Amino acid sequence: HSGWPGLIEAYRSRLPVADDWKVITLLEGATPLVAAPYLSELTGCEVYLKVEGLNPTGSFKDRGMTMAVSNAVNNGKTAVLCASTGNTSASAAAYATRAGITCAVLIPQGKIAMGKLAQAVMHGAKIIQVQGNFDDCLELARKATAEFTEIELVNSVNPARIEGQKTAAFEIVDVLGRAPDVHALPVGNAGNITAYWKGYSEYHHDGIASSRPRMLGVQAAGAAPLVSGEPVADPETIATAIRIGNPASWHQAVAAKDDSGGQFRAATDEKLLEAYRLVAGREGIFVEPASAASVAGLLAAREEGWVRAGETVVCTVTGNGLKDPDTALSGMGEVEAIDVDPVAVAHALGVA
Ligand code: F0G
Repeated sequence: HSGWPGLIEAYRSRLPVADDWKVITLLEGATPLVAAPYLSELTGCEVYLKVEGLNPTGSFKDRGMTMAVSNAVNNGKTAVLCASTGNTSASAAAYATRAGITCAVLIPQGKIAMGKLAQAVMHGAKIIQVQGNFDDCLELARKATAEFTEIELVNSVNPARIEGQKTAAFEIVDVLGRAPDVHALPVGNAGNITAYWKGYSEYHHDGIASSRPRMLGVQAAGAAPLVSGEPVADPETIATAIRIGNPASWHQAVAAKDDSGGQFRAATDEKLLEAYRLVAGREGIFVEPASAASVAGLLAAREEGWVRAGETVVCTVTGNGLKDPDTALSGMGEVEAIDVDPVAVAHALGVA
């Protein structure tokens, strides 16, 4: 049997996986690194998109979840719990189902995209809405799992999550043959920037890549604690996935930025939506609003001169656009229906 075996099998020697583990996988990973000709032309850089929305549940979380749920099961845990702005809950629900264990998710009331909720519902997760934001949910999840140790916490504070997610950096170097000059990605709870930096650093240490990228971490302006240096009590942004005021991996994210000569920046919702439409409308890749933060950040950093012409840049687009149809369709006017008539079709296309 050939074909992609899932990221644990593909990178087994680089992951903390015991020989006797039962691996819980949906064949996540091996996502495409797609050249972005429009963005390359616009910036004078060589731009690629790491399309993480093509993972099994439509986001990068699956990379962490194959590790975290496998680890939980092999340690005899019977349930997993997470706080989530949506994607983590969708992924945890799917992998827990695959493992045959219980999953409960704590979500901020009214603040997650419909597609993500649909996923958690369909995978049979116990959905618990909390009167609070993501930060409140995570605090609650930490307390609950500290007290009831048969439940595994599968947020990115779980080291297994970071181990799984670091494989995205391996894949990029494996495909490009080198590390990019700049790696841009959205930052919310700051697990993913921590994971990428770990992955790049391990390949660099082992001589597989001769350099490491400058990490460009992009937050939404209404939820940009790493930019301001202070937690945000009431984070607010249309990019609900990264509506987070007090990232759990704060120190690791700062280390990734500092050690790489990188940068944190904030993008307004207006700029996020502009980049969101650009990626869909010009590159043919539909991502969710938070995912476009990487692209918004690149455009701003290039304009400023921090990213230079000729550099190779990878933007991670973290989640699939299908998860949030409401944002995609908002502002769309009424679509007129035509007669069942070929001339009417041609007329609508402007050729008759
Ligand atoms: N992009 C998307 C689409 C996300 O769902 C998240 C995080 C991020 C970026 C930020 O990644 O937290 O590692 O810095 N979503 C989490 C969730 C919080 O619950 O699904 P991070």
